[in-house]
Amino acid sequence: MTTLLIYGAYGYTGRLVTDRAVDELDADLVLAGRSPSKLEPLADEHDLPSRAFTLDHRRVVERHLDGVDAVLNCAGPFSRTADSLVDACVETGTDYLDITGEIEVFEALAARDAEAEEADIAVLPGVGFDVVPTDCLAAHLAEALPDATELSLGFQAFGSFSRGTVRTAVESIGEGGAIRRDGRVTAVSSVHETRRIDFGNGETLAVTIPWGDVATAYHSTGVPNVQVFTAVPERAVQALDATDRLAPLLDREWVQRTLSAVVDRTMVGPDADEREEGKALVWGEIGDGEETYEARLRTPETYTLTAMTAVEAARRTLAGETPTGYQTPSSAFGADFVTQFEGVEREDARPVGTTVSDD
Ligand SMILES: NC(=O)c1ccc[n+]([C@@H]2O[C@H](COP(=O)([O-])OP(=O)(O)OC[C@H]3O[C@@H](n4cnc5c(N)ncnc54)[C@H](OP(=O)(O)O)[C@@H]3O)[C@@H](O)[C@H]2O)c1
Repeated sequence: MTTLLIYGAYGYTGRLVTDRAVDELDADLVLAGRSPSKLEPLADEHDLPSRAFTLDHRRVVERHLDGVDAVLNCAGPFSRTADSLVDACVETGTDYLDITGEIEVFEALAARDAEAEEADIAVLPGVGFDVVPTDCLAAHLAEALPDATELSLGFQAFGSFSRGTVRTAVESIGEGGAIRRDGRVTAVSSVHETRRIDFGNGETLAVTIPWGDVATAYHSTGVPNVQVFTAVPERAVQALDATDRLAPLLDREWVQRTLSAVVDRTMVGPDADEREEGKALVWGEIGDGEETYEARLRTPETYTLTAMTAVEAARRTLAGETPTGYQTPSSAFGADFVTQFEGVEREDARPVGTTVSDD
């Protein structure tokens, strides 16, 4: 039997992932995280072994990964956790997966591709809502237009956020936006571009955001210009605009600390009913200067989908199906990976302006 260690198992998303892994995976599970008092009740609840350790000391992490075939890291912000776990995975020959959406984490792990190859391990970040659906849609669009030069992706999510998601977002407040231009991740203002997009529910205002695909879509498709949009209310654009002017202030440690404390006090995350009822719409558009194609996806609520895709990515990795080296979800499992999950529907790539009945 293979062994999967879930790090950050007692966080909001870690619990969803753990519940699903218990139901779905034919593997030995080990629950892990830095706090013994938070970890033990969860391990008792599932009658699973647990390993409590921080990521501060490499040898300690390596010792805890001994005999583990794959790690699924759910402890974010991943800028604080991914590197230490990958350091240890390289030493112990353990495959690494996580649910990050942080551009700098994707880029840092992509830079470790050769190291991962040499260690004969897969390094597969981003196996949650960020970036599985958008990454798979990007790869699907690139199959329709292989010489494309421009890629736009976007989503409209219906549902609320967990504490960890908002805390991770707070960390990047004041850093502005990011797009990929001519193959390079490029800093832009928070409101770099707005446009009206039909995500599948009629046109709505959308704004560019520094989403993970700015990093990953380039690795998946080779398209050198990538931007990612999300649907926003009109007044949110004004608020985002203001964050650029306030950037020097928002970047300060005490502001971040205060905001994080408010988030910790006030946020819980979507409950079971919200997760059941929520959904997300994903859109993508690809162009080569002559033709433009678009495609859409409808998915379950973002945290529900995250648990589904993360556990399936772990299952495939334990089964030896994930190539070694740095991978994106679509480079590992193909553009159709996302379509296997219950509640996911894809409107396949077609030239912009045509509809299903035009086919
Ligand atoms: N890809 C996706 O679509 C997706 C979906 C959901 C969440 N996420 C991301 O996943 C992360 C977790 O979200 P969440 O909602 O589960 O948050 P959460 O409930 O706050 O849980 C965060 C977990 O990470 C642990 N952690 C944080 N910093 C750590 C560190 N330096 N060392 C060790 N453990 C650390 C926490 O442990 P303590 O409680 O001991 O601090 C906790 O177990 C966030 O970054 C979020 O953005 C991504």
